[in-house]
Amino acid sequence: MITKQKGTYDIYGDEAKKRAYVNDILATLCEKYNYNYIETPVFEASELFHRGVGETTDMVQKETYDFKDRGERALTLRPEGTASVVRWFIENKLYGNMSDPVKVFYNAKMYRYERPQSGRNREFTQWGFECFGSDDVMSDAEVISLAYNAYRFLGLDDVKVKLNSLGDTASRMKYRESLIAYFEPHIHELCEDCQERLKKNPLRILDCKVDAEKDIIKKAPVILDYLNEESASRFKKLQELLDLMDINYEVDDRLVRGLDYYNHTVFEITLNDSYALGGGGRYNDLVETLGGPSISGIGFAMGYDRTLLAIEENGVNIPINNSIDVYILYVSDTEKETAAYLTQDLRLNGIIAETDMLGKSLKSQFKSVDRFQAKYYIVLNDDDLKNNEVVVKDNKTKEEEHVKINDLVDYIDMHM
Ligand code: HAM
Repeated sequence: MITKQKGTYDIYGDEAKKRAYVNDILATLCEKYNYNYIETPVFEASELFHRGVGETTDMVQKETYDFKDRGERALTLRPEGTASVVRWFIENKLYGNMSDPVKVFYNAKMYRYERPQSGRNREFTQWGFECFGSDDVMSDAEVISLAYNAYRFLGLDDVKVKLNSLGDTASRMKYRESLIAYFEPHIHELCEDCQERLKKNPLRILDCKVDAEKDIIKKAPVILDYLNEESASRFKKLQELLDLMDINYEVDDRLVRGLDYYNHTVFEITLNDSYALGGGGRYNDLVETLGGPSISGIGFAMGYDRTLLAIEENGVNIPINNSIDVYILYVSDTEKETAAYLTQDLRLNGIIAETDMLGKSLKSQFKSVDRFQAKYYIVLNDDDLKNNEVVVKDNKTKEEEHVKINDLVDYIDMHM
């Protein structure tokens, strides 16, 4: 038997319905914030992620699905959405005439070669959004607000934003030096990866999953002490805006995020202080790094699968409709023809209709009525049809009514 690959999953039944409901809520919310939907390809040139996300990140070093196609092109299945959207932004020269920020959202499958566990898969969905062209803290506040409210609209009222600032390049360089000086004498106490990170990207040490609990990491200098005046004042202004917007946040001076492109604002959304349900931040140099002009960006991505798990674990009720509106039963050939056009007519008028497609007995068709939890059913009958009418039966009350065929759609509509 050929089975699905480790860390992947099929989506069907109630799970698919739940996702459709969640997608609807998220898309509607994005529209309110005036973000437009975007789809980018599943695979891109490997260089996009290697350069964009950063060569020294875990994601690029250990997690990307890299392959060569038959034309020997080096390709990568997208591990995240930001670099792809930046590529789109540059390729379409959307920076050319930017009188307003460009704002887009996506809902897409991502691929990372990780050790699968609850809420961590190799193929997973991210709902994310990006905003280009504003360096004003208003855009930081907007992005954080959209991320935060998305969870609240999904019924997760207790989410919290963990917020930090990585400052501008100058602040970070100063911090980087102090981290190297701090870790260097103790570097042998840390894992092999951290030893490598020391010179290449010491901030990554703070993000290490192996050494996270070690004192040496816990007592490391914090970035907030190294922010220059401008970066510190920017961070303070952002917090003032978040206060005004009544957003539940907490400054977490340990938060550095696992991707290289961030500066200034970084944030994650958590529930009950467990793993991140989503994360994002500002990336003012990424457009330039990937070959575009100097244009700032900020965005966020929700771990969709983790969010669905959280919804389930927190007992949030997602309405799932497993019932149909009308089932049409028949026996004779003329009744069958009527069933064909009546179901079509009902469906085209927004009514969920079913009929038999297996030549079942009437008794078996009645079983389908119950299995589909039909609200109404109609047993076609040649005599009724001669009078251009059908008998509609309410499956709950078992009350029935003669209805003219021409009035059927209106009748069902009125009674739903
Ligand atoms: P990220 O933190 O790598 O950021 O991923 C965002 C979220 O995706 C995580 O918080 C997590 O919930 C979810 N996630 C990550 N890996 C997995 C996995 N293997 N299985 C299930 N869920 C996962 C980014 O990807 C950035 N592009 C976010 C961003 C957008 N920053 C700016 N704009």
